[in-house]
Order: sequence, then structure tokens, then C-alpha cells
Amino acid sequence: MSINEHLKSQYNIMLFDELSSTNDTAKELGIKGYGENTVIIAKSQTSGRGRMGRKFYSPNASGIYMSVLLKPNFPPTDTTLITVAAASATALALDSVCGIDSKIKWVNDIYFKNKKICGILTESTFLNSEQYFSVVGIGVNLYTPESDFPDDIKNIAGAVYETPCSEEIREKLIAEILNNFSAYYKNLTDKEFLTVYRKKSNLIGKTVKYLYNGNETEAEVQYINDNAHLIVKKASGETAELFAGEVSVKLF
Ligand code: BTN
Repeated sequence: MSINEHLKSQYNIMLFDELSSTNDTAKELGIKGYGENTVIIAKSQTSGRGRMGRKFYSPNASGIYMSVLLKPNFPPTDTTLITVAAASATALALDSVCGIDSKIKWVNDIYFKNKKICGILTESTFLNSEQYFSVVGIGVNLYTPESDFPDDIKNIAGAVYETPCSEEIREKLIAEILNNFSAYYKNLTDKEFLTVYRKKSNLIGKTVKYLYNGNETEAEVQYINDNAHLIVKKASGETAELFAGEVSVKLF
């Protein structure tokens, strides 16, 4: 079997052994004029990255590292919705293909057994003052790497499986993520994915600490609004609306 045999919609899949970052390769292709739905997949990344300048550990074979090139027909201010749709699509795919109950940690992480098993990074590039394209990068820790996760992320990072899984599962998972994402992306501004996103949230009702502009604040998470912003209540009783961009949330 191959990824294509499991796909329900049209994607142009390009496979690589090693790249610095699949997001960078997708960006380069976007600049060259490659079409929407070009998908870059690598077996490993030497400079995988996440939000806020963080690294994304991407060792050989044990993860899925992929990026989808998109040419949105909505304003760039709505691109957070791409991340949220991709998180919902990936969580559903993980549940159906791998039989787990994954959780989504606002805004771009997926958890299983209280460990991060997936991160999503959407980046946009402007070609001129009007035209832009986006790249949504999805990194899944499919199984625990042979030499385990490095010490600095060992307490946070986890994987779907403890030992290597079949190529068939990897291919099915990639295809199912793309199938789910494609359905959401077609009508992105209808925000159909918010139902899944809210249902699978591991933050609603929890006390968190969020970091914004260097300040850490403790608050209780109330809900996720229709713009996928996190609504929290601080100890003072004041409500705050957290935007994805520069906020990092810690569960404790
Ligand atoms: C995060 O943890 O903040 C997001 C991680 C996103 C990782 C994926 S792996 C595929 C793509 N290429 C990258 O360099 N990053 C994304």
C-alpha cells in the first residue's frame, strides 16, 4: 500500500529522507509557485522547529514530519484557524487509526497519556502586499525513538507507540490526517472543526499558567471562543482572551 491509496482527496506528496525542516522546503516550493496541497514529508529533520523559536526533535523514522502548502482565500488574520483545523484533523486521525484518545492542548499541541505527541506550526509568507501562502507543518512522535527522547524534553515528550509500528499504520495515519484536514480546510471559515477541538481540549476547566510578554499569570480556563481564542478567568476575577500568537500555556 501507499499513502496515495488511502487518500480521498488530491494531494501532491513529495517524500524525502532528510530535510532541515519540511516547513522550509514547502516554503521554498511555495515561492517557486508550486500549487496548493503540495505535501512535503521527511523521515527526519535536522532543524525541525516549533512555535516561539522552539526546536522540534525529529529523529529518523520514529516520527511523521510533514508540511502542507496552502493558498488561503481568506485574510492572513484567520490563519490560526489553519492550526486549529490541523490539530482537530490530526487528533481525530490518531484516534481512528491508532485507537487512542488524544487530547488537544490549545493551541497547537496534541497529548496522549499527559505527554506531547504532536505539534503543529503554521507559517505564512507574503509574495507581495496582497498575495500570501501558508504552510502548515505537523510533527507526530509515532513511536519512542530507540535512544529515547533527549533529557531536556523527556518529561514532556511522548509517543503514540512505545515500540516501532508498521509502515502501513504510518501511511494510513498520514492519509487520514490529510483526509480530515482537507474536509475542514474546504470550508475553513465555517469552523466545523471547533466542535472536535473543544471536545478534545485538555485545558477547559483547568488551572493554567500562561506566559505573555514575559509575565506569568495563573488563571482558570473557561472556554474556547468562536475565534479559537482561550477565555480564562484570573484570580482577580477578571476575564482575559488569549490569542494564539505569543501566548504559551502550562498545565500544572
Ligand atoms: C510546536 O511544537 O510548537 C510545533 C511543532 C511543529 C513540528 C512540525 S514537524 C513538520 C514541520 N517542520 C518543522 O520544522 N516544524 C513542523
